[in-house]
Amino acid sequence: MNAWWLAAIVAVPLGLDQLIPAPAGNPLEAGRVKLGRKLFFDKRLSRDGTVACTTCHDPARAFSDGAARAVGIGAQTGPRRSPRILNRAYGKTFFWDGRAASLEEQVVQPIANPLEMGMRVEDAAARVGLTRDELTQALASYVRTILAGDSPYDRFLAGDRGALTADQQAGLKLFRGKANCVACHLGPNLTDEDFHATGPAGPDLGRYEVSRRPEDRGAFKTPSLRQVAETPPYLHDGSLASLEAVVDFYDQGKGSDPEIRPLRLTAAEKRQLVTLLRAFTGRVQEGMP
Ligand code: HEC
Ligand code: HEC
Repeated sequence: MNAWWLAAIVAVPLGLDQLIPAPAGNPLEAGRVKLGRKLFFDKRLSRDGTVACTTCHDPARAFSDGAARAVGIGAQTGPRRSPRILNRAYGKTFFWDGRAASLEEQVVQPIANPLEMGMRVEDAAARVGLTRDELTQALASYVRTILAGDSPYDRFLAGDRGALTADQQAGLKLFRGKANCVACHLGPNLTDEDFHATGPAGPDLGRYEVSRRPEDRGAFKTPSLRQVAETPPYLHDGSLASLEAVVDFYDQGKGSDPEIRPLRLTAAEKRQLVTLLRAFTGRVQEGMP
């Protein structure tokens, strides 16, 4: 079985690549996706039975949690915000710093993380009657089926000129032009899957912890902007409360990335960019029929 077959049975939302990538060793298959979905909601994967993947990746909140920083077992607060888990099948690196190279590598890390679920992966698997590989493959498979698309932005690109308001169309011009957002937020998923220092360096060194390259100090992975309006607060540390604050942040242009510079946007232009960001909200689907 290959991924082309899958595309025929999962109706991929408008705007995304119809081919959902999956590794040869873990092809998407309905049984594994169903099992993975159950596990994603299962609190037994945490040491004290209080935290599931959905605690931080809530389907009702675009698979994020609304908190500035993630809260795991024992009410411990981690260093970073829970990202929206959307269209990750198309991802190339995982986590804000890209320290996992595949979803198979990624999905077991929150289980083992003492601040999140706090359990040896083998013990968690045994608790639910699976091997480590079965658990890993099922969770990765389910995550691959969480897709977001079919937004006003997608409909506009598909030719429906009325899908975006005049202000949103002006916002799109800015996004692609004067505001330079498209330097990093591009393609069907509105991300280059690369790492950039977009703001003044804070205590979290981000990608530098993985690469040890000086230019990666304070660089984080460009997040997809799909459903972004649904999940304040923003950035890896949840330090910006609103989309308006994010646009102001870019307007100041204080990051060390060569594509970041003061933008000198007018108040009207800032408002137009924010309304465009709201047009990236479409339909989220998960699982397999
Ligand atoms: C306590 C909250 C919490 C729990 C529980 C949790 N996560 Fe996460 N998740 C996070 C945070 C925070 C990050 C980002 C961490 C980082 O970048 O260092 C993340 C990152 C991810 C990513 C990477 C997304 C990307 O775009 O790079 C995936 C996929 C993911 N989690 C899936 C899961 C799965 C599957 C589970 C359950 C086995 C789970 N998470 C449990 C908080 C949580
Ligand atoms: C140089 C690359 C780059 C450019 C240019 C850029 N971004 Fe980003 N964007 C990123 C990165 C990297 C992050 C994550 C930064 C962090 O978490 O500290 C991000 C985060 C965001 C977020 C928050 C998403 C979330 O889930 O927290 C929004 C919204 C956003 N960008 C919109 C824009 C807009 C609008 C523009 C144009 C004004 C823009 N970006 C220009 C790379 C870029």
